[in-house]
Amino acid sequence: MLVSATEMLKKAKAGHYAVGQFNINNLEWTKSILLTAQELNSPVILGVSEGAGKYMGGYHAVVGMVNGLLQDLNITVPVALHLDHGSFEGCYKCIEAGFSSIMFDGSHYAIDENVAKTTELVKAAHDKGLSIEAEVGSIGGEEDGVVGMGECADPDECKAIADLGIDFLAAGIGNIHGKYPENWQGLSFETLDAVQQKTGDMPLVLHGGTGIPADMIKKAINLGVAKINVNTECQLAFAAATRKYVEEGKDLQGKGFDPRKLLAPGAEAIKATVKEKMELFGSVGQA
Ligand code: 13P
Repeated sequence: MLVSATEMLKKAKAGHYAVGQFNINNLEWTKSILLTAQELNSPVILGVSEGAGKYMGGYHAVVGMVNGLLQDLNITVPVALHLDHGSFEGCYKCIEAGFSSIMFDGSHYAIDENVAKTTELVKAAHDKGLSIEAEVGSIGGEEDGVVGMGECADPDECKAIADLGIDFLAAGIGNIHGKYPENWQGLSFETLDAVQQKTGDMPLVLHGGTGIPADMIKKAINLGVAKINVNTECQLAFAAATRKYVEEGKDLQGKGFDPRKLLAPGAEAIKATVKEKMELFGSVGQA
C-alpha cells in the first residue's frame, strides 16, 4: 500500500540520512526501483513529472501500475508515489487519481502567489492524507520543459512557505537538473545552513541529485537534507546499457529482439544506480 512521505522523511531527518526520490518513466523503471528498495530494505519515493505521467498514459494508469506492482511483487517497504514539480492543476489531478504525495512547484510565481496557492493545496492534500512538498528558489536546468535558472532560495521566504504546513521543502541551493556543467560552482552550503536554521525540523529536499559528488551529498544530509531526487542518472545508465546491447548486436542474435531481453540490461543498470544512491544516502536498512 502506498504511504505518504511524511513519516519516512521525518525519520530520515532525525536519523541523518536521506530517502531517494527516483523518477519513473515506465514499467521497467518502476519495477527496478521497487525491487531494489525491497532488496535493500529501504524506503523509497517514486517521482512522476507531469510529462512522464502523460507519457505513461495518465495519472490513473500510473497509480494502477504502481499499486499492482506493490501487490504482485510483495513490496513491503514504505513507498510513496509523488508528483514531481506539479502545477496547481496537476496537483489536484494527482490527489484525485490516488497519488500519496505531491509537489507543488510555485517557485516561478511571486512569493505571495506561491504562498496563496501552496496554502490551498496543503489543505487539499492533507484532507486526503497526502504529503506535500513546496519549492522556493527555482532549481536550475531543464526537466520536462520546466526550465529553472538555478537560484539560491531566500531563507526568509523558505520560512514563510515552511510555516504553511507543508511536509517537506525544496530550496534552491545552486543545484540544477540534468548534468552539471564544467564550470558549476557547487552547492551553496551557506544557503542550506541558513534555510535549515530558519526551518528547524522541516525535512529539506535536494533536487538535481544526478552528478553531485558524494562528499557534497553527505554534507547536504548533515545540513538537513532528507530527500534527494535522482532522474537523469537512471536515464543515462539505462541508455548506456541498452546502447551496449544493441552495439554488440545482441538484438540480432536468436530472440534478442524480444523486449524482455532488449530492455533487461537497461533495467539492471537502473537497479545498480538506485542501489549505489541508496547506499550513499544512507537509507539502506531504514524501512
Ligand atoms: P536530476 O535529473 O538532475 O537527477 O534531477 C532530478 C530531480 O530533481 C527531479 O525533480
